[in-house]
Amino acid sequence: MTHHAHLEETARALVAPGKGILAADESSGTIKKRFDSINLESTESNRRAYRDMLFTAPGLGEHISGVILYDETIRQGLPDGTPFTKVLEQTGMIPGIKVDTGAKPLAGFEGEQITEGLDGLRERLAEYAQLGARFTKWRAVINIGPGSSEASPSDRIPSQFCIDANAHALARYAGLSQDAGLVPIVEPEVMMDGDHSIDRCFDVSVRTLRSLFDQLYEHRVVLEGALLKTNMVLPGKDAQDQAGPEEIARQTIRCFRNTVPAAVPGIVFLSGGQDDIPATDHLNEMNKRGPHPWELSFSYGRALQAPALKAWKGEPANVEAAQQALAHRARCNGAARFGKYSSDMETAAA
Ligand code: 13P
Repeated sequence: MTHHAHLEETARALVAPGKGILAADESSGTIKKRFDSINLESTESNRRAYRDMLFTAPGLGEHISGVILYDETIRQGLPDGTPFTKVLEQTGMIPGIKVDTGAKPLAGFEGEQITEGLDGLRERLAEYAQLGARFTKWRAVINIGPGSSEASPSDRIPSQFCIDANAHALARYAGLSQDAGLVPIVEPEVMMDGDHSIDRCFDVSVRTLRSLFDQLYEHRVVLEGALLKTNMVLPGKDAQDQAGPEEIARQTIRCFRNTVPAAVPGIVFLSGGQDDIPATDHLNEMNKRGPHPWELSFSYGRALQAPALKAWKGEPANVEAAQQALAHRARCNGAARFGKYSSDMETAAA
């Protein structure tokens, strides 16, 4: 099989019908925040036990196609020494790895961020491939600052410079990842923080994706062997006017139709602070409106893990309940891939 055919096959498997991705690639800082919420100390052994609970949940592979790991996690495994990458492969899930080293302040652009991690990336990718990773992820952060429209003075956030700098880094990363035989998941996240309208999020998301696909083209990235992970088009968390699922689905699909080439096999959503049930509901609403030129799937972190984390609380006795909570969210999101989710699924399982 050619290099490109191999990438395309993996990309398609990650967005197979009825399945989506579990993002479990929290950095040390982020997992500490999650553990703080259950009053659990973030030690290497607690982090291992938590990921062990998630990855060995019975039946998880039915609705989870792949799992994104963090540098520490890809080197960990079961107490008997079996690496997590093996555990995942054995249950039909593809191991992946977050390869950026985080979003840092963008010099000269107060309130904006640039994602780092390109230096030495070729060598790190080779090591991750050796450890069993078959795909990778890089996240860029695009903030929306105060202001009411995009047709506004040049000091508004996000600046075009920030959007373009992040798009350039995403494309550099994607090219290196494909060179290493690993499917890149390019993730620009337009943040929900703020009181902006859904229209403003639409405009910023369009600008972000236009710049990204320009750069992917310039960098000769093979779109058939890549996936897009991004935000839904939503009003800011603190906006007065919140939007219903129909409006969110309509604006999100319109945004993608204007910016994402049909050559891309799939678009997977991040949850970005949406609660678990709305995140499922929104995905469902979008798939009800299909077929679309791309698979519309999920790559949720919090929206898949939150109920499991709460049930687990770091206690071995709670592992089974926590695994059931995770499997339940995976099943609901699996149904949302076909537009077949309904709130009955929540009550039936409770
Ligand atoms: P959330 O779904 O919690 O936003 O996490 C997904 C992710 O991988 C962000 O990079």
